[in-house]
Amino acid sequence: MHPTLNIAVKAARRAATVINRASLDLDQIRVEVKSPNDFVSDVDRAAEDAIIQVLREAYPSHSILAEESGETGPEAETEYQWIIDPLDGTTNFLHGFPQYAISIALARRGVVEQAVVYDPNRNEMFTASKGGGAFLNDRRIRVSKRLKLQDALVGTGFPYRQFKNVDTYLAIFKELTQKTAGLRRPGAASLDLAYVAAGRLDAFWEFGLSPWDMAAGSLLISEAGGLVSDLAGESTYLTSGNVVAGTPKVFPQLLQLIQGHCGDKLPA
Ligand code: IPD
Ligand code: CA
Ligand code: CA
Ligand code: CA
Repeated sequence: MHPTLNIAVKAARRAATVINRASLDLDQIRVEVKSPNDFVSDVDRAAEDAIIQVLREAYPSHSILAEESGETGPEAETEYQWIIDPLDGTTNFLHGFPQYAISIALARRGVVEQAVVYDPNRNEMFTASKGGGAFLNDRRIRVSKRLKLQDALVGTGFPYRQFKNVDTYLAIFKELTQKTAGLRRPGAASLDLAYVAAGRLDAFWEFGLSPWDMAAGSLLISEAGGLVSDLAGESTYLTSGNVVAGTPKVFPQLLQLIQGHCGDKLPA
């Protein structure tokens, strides 16, 4: 395993210790509302601190982009940046719904090279290194062999923070209820992407995500033989926040259907 990936795995396990302990007594957790339907708790922050401590100790010259503390690190522009979601699926976590994860990626000059998505409930560690394949607990994973959108199980997330795009989203959702084997909304985008990589979902789309939701999951998918893009079929999803992913055969069918509703971009 690449040394930086090893450190990322260690950091994810530290965060999981914090999260698992807190999950034993959900009533004790202090929660703040960032905006309607958008919560942050002291557990998100403590998990993030645990991750950052491990990464800083190993790589003091790397910069960090983390959901709760933003961009930190050396003043000078650095080659390497860690992109961290310490608890992806906070709403699930706060309700004791066991679908959430820790997501850690390392980008070099903006290109993601190492990825970890860890599900502490199932003890599933998804990892990938650029050019080295994707793994689940040390076993190689590949996207599914599904060929047709009609046969696909498709994951998504609701655009609850981008109300202006809800109608477009719902029109896509409606069409897909007729044109897929099923739709799922598990509630943790990084795990949804990891599930595409592992062949548990055949495709995924969501609007309005943040880089920390997607950075690790997108490398898992490309290293597992899948495709990931923005709405134009290009690679700006980390900045646009709009992402479409899937197996090589299902991906273009899903992208085309979505573009039929919104063209190749949504209003920002
Ligand atoms: C959220 C989850 C969810 C997605 C939201 C994200 P958070 O992340 O990934 O699945 O639909 O858009 O913000 O806030 O729980 O880390
Ligand atoms: Ca959040
Ligand atoms: Ca997230
Ligand atoms: Ca989060």
